[in-house]
Amino acid sequence: MNNLLKSLIYDGKKILSESGVKNAMDEARLIIKKTLKKTELEFITLQNKKISSKQSNSILHNFIERTKGKPISKIFGLKEFFSNEFIVNKNVLDPRPETELLVELTIKNLFKIKDKKISLLELGVGSGCLIISILLSLKKNKVSALGVDISNKALDIAGKNIKKFNLEKKLKLKKSDWFSEVHEKFDVIISNPPYIKTSDIKDLDKDVKFYDPLIALNGGFNGLRCFERIATDAKFHLKQNGIILLEIGFGQINSVKKIFEEMGYKIFLKEKDLQGITRVVGFKL
Ligand SMILES: C[S@@+](CC[C@H](N)C(=O)[O-])C[C@H]1O[C@@H](n2cnc3c(N)ncnc32)[C@H](O)[C@@H]1O
Repeated sequence: MNNLLKSLIYDGKKILSESGVKNAMDEARLIIKKTLKKTELEFITLQNKKISSKQSNSILHNFIERTKGKPISKIFGLKEFFSNEFIVNKNVLDPRPETELLVELTIKNLFKIKDKKISLLELGVGSGCLIISILLSLKKNKVSALGVDISNKALDIAGKNIKKFNLEKKLKLKKSDWFSEVHEKFDVIISNPPYIKTSDIKDLDKDVKFYDPLIALNGGFNGLRCFERIATDAKFHLKQNGIILLEIGFGQINSVKKIFEEMGYKIFLKEKDLQGITRVVGFKL
């Protein structure tokens, strides 16, 4: 490999596109920029400069990681979500752009609750990207929050992100199998639970099936197991006028609505994402 940065971009593009990476040129540039820890401007001005063999070896190593399907976020341990960068690793779901809709709608609904301190619970907190993005968008002291997850390793990453964003006072974490260790009631409960059918997991892209934890994906034989568990218990943890907002998968709206309605909830919100898929649903009692 030639050590001129410009040539590395073309080498990278070739290596990545031959392994089936879409947008290979953009990804090659991003991998180089991140490996060298350069801003876009620094990167542009460096294109005709030579770099050390140590640097080019690190870049090559990262290209190869990417050809195995490892997402760029998991190569560098950081992922942008709702305009902030979150720490991620193999133990947490890579934050998805479509989940930003649940953040937006939760913030909108929290703004409607006036003149009181609000309690917020996230079930399946993962990296913490969702609840942290919500807390960062709200006024100081308006919300106290709890995030739970069944995975200790995910809670460890959520804890690191809480520190990164100085939210230790506002957001607590707990290990819990959905509501098993939750004893309080909340104004707002949110969740992006695992909702992929077990039999569909083998057909997912390799950056998902090999690099997202199975526990974050697997929604059981029909993809709905977690919604059933959450619907059964959420009613005992909602304050008066409390709401629950959930991310759901493609084609799940009717089944999820049925599960919740049969348990006595009423649907009050149904919102499509940019692909036109109904992605967020809201219920109250
Ligand atoms: C789809 S991921 C969502 C992660 C994060 N909230 C996000 O949106 O990026 C689902 C999360 O639920 C957690 N989870 C799975 N089963 C659980 C259970 N029984 N109780 C609590 N959390 C669970 C997983 O560990 C994972 O972190």
